[in-house]
Amino acid sequence: MNLIKKDMNTENLKSSLLTAKHIVIFTGAGVSADSGIPTFRGQKNGLWGRYDASKLASAQAFEQDPALVWGWYQWRKAQVMKAAPCAAHLAIAQMQDLGPHITLITQNVDDLHERAGSKNVIHLHGSLFRSRCFDCGQPYSDLNDCALDANEAVRIDPPNCPQCNGRIRPGVVWFGEPLSKKLFDLLLAGARRCDVMIVAGTSGLVRPAIEIPKVAARAGAKLVEINPEPSLAQADFSVKEAASVAFPKILKMMQRA
Ligand code: OAD
Repeated sequence: MNLIKKDMNTENLKSSLLTAKHIVIFTGAGVSADSGIPTFRGQKNGLWGRYDASKLASAQAFEQDPALVWGWYQWRKAQVMKAAPCAAHLAIAQMQDLGPHITLITQNVDDLHERAGSKNVIHLHGSLFRSRCFDCGQPYSDLNDCALDANEAVRIDPPNCPQCNGRIRPGVVWFGEPLSKKLFDLLLAGARRCDVMIVAGTSGLVRPAIEIPKVAARAGAKLVEINPEPSLAQADFSVKEAASVAFPKILKMMQRA
């Protein structure tokens, strides 16, 4: 395993994982990269390098041009529906099968963790598959509306809410929108209690999400970062590999108890 800091070795990592009473796995877009889902930053294909987030990922953008925004999210949803979980998603699900002491928090809005078999996935930034009314908040089941052949340039008018006739919006957290305070406080409390936090495939540039690993580190948890381009200065173990390579190895370490 490619651990880059001098004072780290695979035996230390294995022992931290095997003795942990509570492990949190915190994932970002890099974990779905090997399923073919583009990340947001740091690569030539990153979504926010190719698209203007201010025109696509805010409430103001939706109010200004709902068809542009809805069409773009339908395209992203179609991409996810055509993709399959990768070795990282599958290994994480198997890790969770080892015991109830593993909590999975994802910033991802895809459903690849669930399709790999993970249960109780905490979606910090919402989900492409949980649309709701922009006006009244009523959840909206839109699986039949998903344009599987939607391409990225297609404008699609959002459906209307059966309850108030308002416009249906994607169920993701947009820039400028708060996270649920109740959920976030619970996650911070969990972060303070965990022994190990595995942070995988995130640039760590989005607040407040990144506070979760920072709080864990400050409370004494061992931080394991999995990222070909490490970004967390606080990491105790930095695994400089793709998530789909590293997680199967970590699973093996945990199975060889
Ligand atoms: P980013 O796109 O900011 O970061 C992706 C990270 O994954 C980078 O650090 C890459 O080096 C790393 N990476 C790429 N391929 C990888 C691989 N195969 N294995 C492991 N790591 C890999 O994505 P996030 O940090 O998830 O918000 O972005 C955070 C939030 O910003 C997202 O949730 C999204 C976005 O705006 C919403 O959707 C609300």
